[in-house]
Amino acid sequence: MSDLIADDSIPVITVDGPTASGKGTVAHRVADALGFHYLDSGALYRLTALASARHGIDPDDSGALAVLAETLDVRFADQRIWLAGEDVSDAIRAEAIGNQASSIAVHPSVRHALVALQRAFKTAPGLVADGRDMGTVIFPEADLKVFLTATPQARAQRRYKQLIEKGFSANIDSLLLDLEARDARDRTRAEAPLRPAEGARVLDTSGLNVDEAVSRVLEWFAQAQYPQGA
Ligand code: DC
Repeated sequence: MSDLIADDSIPVITVDGPTASGKGTVAHRVADALGFHYLDSGALYRLTALASARHGIDPDDSGALAVLAETLDVRFADQRIWLAGEDVSDAIRAEAIGNQASSIAVHPSVRHALVALQRAFKTAPGLVADGRDMGTVIFPEADLKVFLTATPQARAQRRYKQLIEKGFSANIDSLLLDLEARDARDRTRAEAPLRPAEGARVLDTSGLNVDEAVSRVLEWFAQAQYPQGA
């Protein structure tokens, strides 16, 4: 995996931030605009959570969870995600799976088991990676590191809309509570806690629409590539 890190000729943009900060949408749109690959690292934690629930693995059994994460039979194709041959794109978006993902993500062994898989996404012509530790741990060599934030209320509203659109039922008050609990767990865990990477550009998306946030990231990337405006 260190040989992949050393390949600085492949540009990487990392987009980290708390749940429902808009990072998935923004990162995906930035990747499309640049023709880059896209890594949704949260999906890997969600897949591990879903697989562990299906195998009846105890959420505290870090050893068994790590083996599961290391051997995930996952395929990303046509904007869908397949686990052991089953299209689980919608199943992994359930709020309960997001919360379980956050719980199993505290185990260092699970995080380590997913490192190589995440770094393998760094291929030409470039990568946009979203998550919690993309800039701090997985791609510390990134050309541009972005940290997205938004108020808990704005994020709860977004998550509510996403869930309803996907056909899940949702309640805004309990979403707000879950989201704050999940943020607290992601921010305070010992291994790879959620925080802006050194040198990260912080973007508060509360008052921005998606186009504005995407434009800002693309501007920053252009500046990072041509620092003198050349
Ligand atoms: O981004 P998301 O909501 O799909 O992520 C679900 C959970 O997975 C998140 O609450 C914490 C964990 N996660 C992580 O620990 N590190 C990442 N790079 C991405 C997600």
